[in-house]
Amino acid sequence: MRRHPALEPFSRDHNTGLILARALTEGRPDADQQFREAWTRELADHFAEEERLLGPLCTEVQFARLIEEHRQIERLGDRLPETMRLLGEALDAHIRWEERFFFPAIEATASEEQLVQLMRATDVVEERRWANEPNRERLVRRRREQR
Ligand SMILES: [Fe+2]
Ligand SMILES: [Fe+2]
Repeated sequence: MRRHPALEPFSRDHNTGLILARALTEGRPDADQQFREAWTRELADHFAEEERLLGPLCTEVQFARLIEEHRQIERLGDRLPETMRLLGEALDAHIRWEERFFFPAIEATASEEQLVQLMRATDVVEERRWANEPNRERLVRRRREQR
């Protein structure tokens, strides 16, 4: 099933997150530096916005898992480079849970009005990414014309 446009900005971040997770799991020499840069550029914002925007749309159990996994990834990131492989695995597993279970659950339970409001908010998150990613800006502008 295609991702609802309201969740697409988070899913686009997940594409780069999976590449980063692989670099960490494979223990590439610059992977810890890549993680720190990604944390500042995108990841801390991504986690905070998922918690703020998706918290009200999900169950307590889902929210507890979201928070716990975000904190776990942050803690592992603080202990780099020793934690590199564990961090890669945790990041990969977290993204896969969100894509396979968490986002589909929100798409299935949120009302159309909630999704429209969410889309307005995640459009703002999306645009914060463009300063660092001109290709992404071009892609998303094209997509929006087709909405
Ligand atoms: Fe997350
Ligand atoms: Fe995410």
